[in-house]
Amino acid sequence: MTNSKGLEGVVAAETGISHIDGFHGRLYYRGIDINELATHSTFEETTALLWYGKLPTARQLESFTAKIIESRLVPNEIIALLLLLPKKTTPMGVLRTSVSALSPFDPETRDNSLEANVHKSIRLTAALPTIVAAWERIRNGLWPVTPSTTLGHAANFLYMLSGKEPDPAAARILDQCLILHADHGLNASTFAARITASTLSNLHSAITSAISTLQGPLHGGANEQVMRMLLEIGDLERVEQYMRGAFAAGRKIMGFGHRVYKADDPRALWLERLSRDLAESTGNRVWYQMSDRIRSIVQSQKPLPVNVDFYSASVYYTLGIPIDLFTSIFAISRVAGWTAHVYEQYADNRLIRPESAYIGSLDMPYTALAERN
Ligand code: ACO
Repeated sequence: MTNSKGLEGVVAAETGISHIDGFHGRLYYRGIDINELATHSTFEETTALLWYGKLPTARQLESFTAKIIESRLVPNEIIALLLLLPKKTTPMGVLRTSVSALSPFDPETRDNSLEANVHKSIRLTAALPTIVAAWERIRNGLWPVTPSTTLGHAANFLYMLSGKEPDPAAARILDQCLILHADHGLNASTFAARITASTLSNLHSAITSAISTLQGPLHGGANEQVMRMLLEIGDLERVEQYMRGAFAAGRKIMGFGHRVYKADDPRALWLERLSRDLAESTGNRVWYQMSDRIRSIVQSQKPLPVNVDFYSASVYYTLGIPIDLFTSIFAISRVAGWTAHVYEQYADNRLIRPESAYIGSLDMPYTALAERN
């Protein structure tokens, strides 16, 4: 038996969904380089690619997109649930609770066939943006916006947040962000989804586990922490002093480091370009400039790759998205990959059940309650 802390270097599943070449900094979905997909595809098309294994034809894409649009409304009971939650509930907490609550409302909740799971995945993929946007409105005392029946997935999310049709350029940037976040091998949240599925628990349970796992700051929660760091620094001139302090205190710099990448994360390089383009087009350059300086300082001190969460922070912030929604945007995208992995797990299932190395004592006496101190 091998003992690997954090399961580093352990292969726990075979997958045909995505491949990371961590040495060269490449990422492929179903064999297609994500640079190609971010340039030419849409989130809807990329989702179909991940689920069905190949790019859809024009007719297939049209029908797939229509099914997602039809499923955008969530049951009224879910909106009623959001109205009951404390306003301080985090958007990821709201998503986790809502996906769990959606399970009994799904007409195929007890059916674990591939066909039913694809239907459920369509409904979940369509519902996540509606829930996040509805929560943003409700916690600000506003009524949720009814989803559009014409806008694309990313544009509809921005529309449901503000009630106004978004600038097409902003919608395309968000669409590219969704493509870039859609799948990533056996990352922690996908592993959580697969572990849950491996017990033959249902799709909603697996996605609830995944959302819970994505939330942490070492995983998808890092994008929010990156933005909080940028705001704390506040000024380009303060970056060096801040970074000196962070290194001296031995703090981890959010948005850097990765278990698999040795070279820079290719998604981060895309997001860097999006952040730079947005800085130019809006004239609001400070967040991009600070990010760039932080990256030079970090990488001059330690050979750490920049990861997906670093530049997505300045992209979302410049798009006007509230900071605590950043990780839920990650979930809105990653649900495509999670569900694809759940299909794969069910198709060739074996219970995922590693062992632990016991380090406690043995043969301890049982002391009667009255004799304990
Ligand atoms: N800042 C400073 N030092 C770092 C960082 C960082 N961001 N990341 C890793 N290191 C250092 C560690 O201190 C450690 O140094 P040591 O060997 O001298 O103790 C070494 O690099 C290895 O780090 P680990 O944390 O053991 O690496 P691991 O593979 O377990 O963790 C992780 C990867 C969690 C991503 C880590 O790099 C990290 O905490 N980064 C910051 C959080 C972050 O950006 N998370 C998002 C990751 S991408 C995603 O999940 C979507």
